[in-house]
Amino acid sequence: MTQTENKPEVNNTPLVPIEKIVSLCKRRGFVYPNSEIYGGVSGIYDFGPMGVEFRNNIRRYWWWSMVQNHDNVLGIEGAIITHPRVWEASGHVENFVDQLVDCKKCKRRFRIDHLEPKNLEQHKCPVCGGELTTEPRVFNLLMETYLGVVEGDRMKTYLRGEACQDIYLDYDNVLKSSRVQVPFGICQIGKAFRNEVTPGNFLFRQREFEQWDLEFFVHPSEMQKWFNYWKEFRFNWYSSIINHKDRIRFREHAADELAHYAKQAYDIEYRTVLGWQEWEGIHWRQDWDLSRHSQYSGQDLSYTDPNTKERYIPWIVETSGGVDRTFLNLLLDAYEEEPDPSGKEPRTVLRLNPMLAPVKVAVLPLQKNKEELVSTAKDIHKKLQRLMVSQYDDVQNIGRRYRRQDEIGTPYCVTIDFQTLDDQTVTVRERDHMTQERIAISELPMYLLERVSFK
Ligand code: GAP
Repeated sequence: MTQTENKPEVNNTPLVPIEKIVSLCKRRGFVYPNSEIYGGVSGIYDFGPMGVEFRNNIRRYWWWSMVQNHDNVLGIEGAIITHPRVWEASGHVENFVDQLVDCKKCKRRFRIDHLEPKNLEQHKCPVCGGELTTEPRVFNLLMETYLGVVEGDRMKTYLRGEACQDIYLDYDNVLKSSRVQVPFGICQIGKAFRNEVTPGNFLFRQREFEQWDLEFFVHPSEMQKWFNYWKEFRFNWYSSIINHKDRIRFREHAADELAHYAKQAYDIEYRTVLGWQEWEGIHWRQDWDLSRHSQYSGQDLSYTDPNTKERYIPWIVETSGGVDRTFLNLLLDAYEEEPDPSGKEPRTVLRLNPMLAPVKVAVLPLQKNKEELVSTAKDIHKKLQRLMVSQYDDVQNIGRRYRRQDEIGTPYCVTIDFQTLDDQTVTVRERDHMTQERIAISELPMYLLERVSFK
């Protein structure tokens, strides 16, 4: 039986505990707790050398799919701090709140929208069974900040509670400065800040996190068509970058969850040890956002169709997802501890899609003390480095080096051995099946590029 046949089916692998990912992330430089030497800050994280490469690849792939591959979608990058009126118009100052109850016995705190109806009705703590407080306490999630230096003249404003508001603010500028017509979309990737009262589960619920949003502006008569288009597009996009296709689904919002202007809303959900959880929302926003900003700013944000001369406020389809949740879900989806057939310790492997993996290729001389092997390997590494993220490694035996690369999800390892010196070929070892192929050095860049480029 070959190693490939022996490999367990990815769909049957058990759900991975979050702690395994937290540990791998710290050990291999994906994610660190922020301000750790001071004891850390709840819900705030930093990304290490591997994390930043992985994150950049995720972001770039989203941008490539959404902006570069759609003629009618443009990108912006708005500011984190905006005029405070923005958050009045958006409704966040008034309504962006969490309601909490406390357990009188164990002192745990619960968001009432996260409690089961029976716990709410009986005022019973879901953890210890103690009595819950009856009157919920209300917390606004917006993070306040101040502009200006002179006491008294300082203006209170907010770090943006959702990134997408910048898109509404720049909609008219984009329209006037680019030759686009409705229907068209604006995309943005950017940080958002929320004073979450119950941050937790690693990157799942943070206080500083990143969102990717599309706001797609349409004529009201075409709303349903474009809603369907983006709903399917986004689902297929996420499906294409995961291994476990049985862990993704739509959840349609019930009538009592819908905003008053929304005919429909769907969450794309992913299943982890936390259960089915939201990954991205597809929202029917109608003309709500542009109308509110027109009203609060006094600026006319309506659109005149150049052909029909019809004047109207465009309706909006929104797709709003989390970069950090993608980061976490992809790691949970890719992580596997594969039993070793010879009884050695299991192989930890991240089966990441090669185009998203932080390191694309590792270049490994078979032996460190053979000058010709080392110099050929370094030469190959230098050439590959111009095209993709390549790591050179000559420390410890080849088996250990393969394991190190498996653990960070490197899809290809190139080994330079004695045959290389005779015939200018190398061994390319593939991460998932551990198969090996002999490739000419001259063909190596194209061989790898074909396998790690965005598709
Ligand atoms: N503009 C719409 C909006 O902000 P949302 O459901 O609040 O909608 C969109 O957020 C996405 O942002 C979520 O689907 C999730 O992926 C991500 N997200 C929201 N809150 C988050 C948090 N505290 N930590 C990490 N990601 C979060």
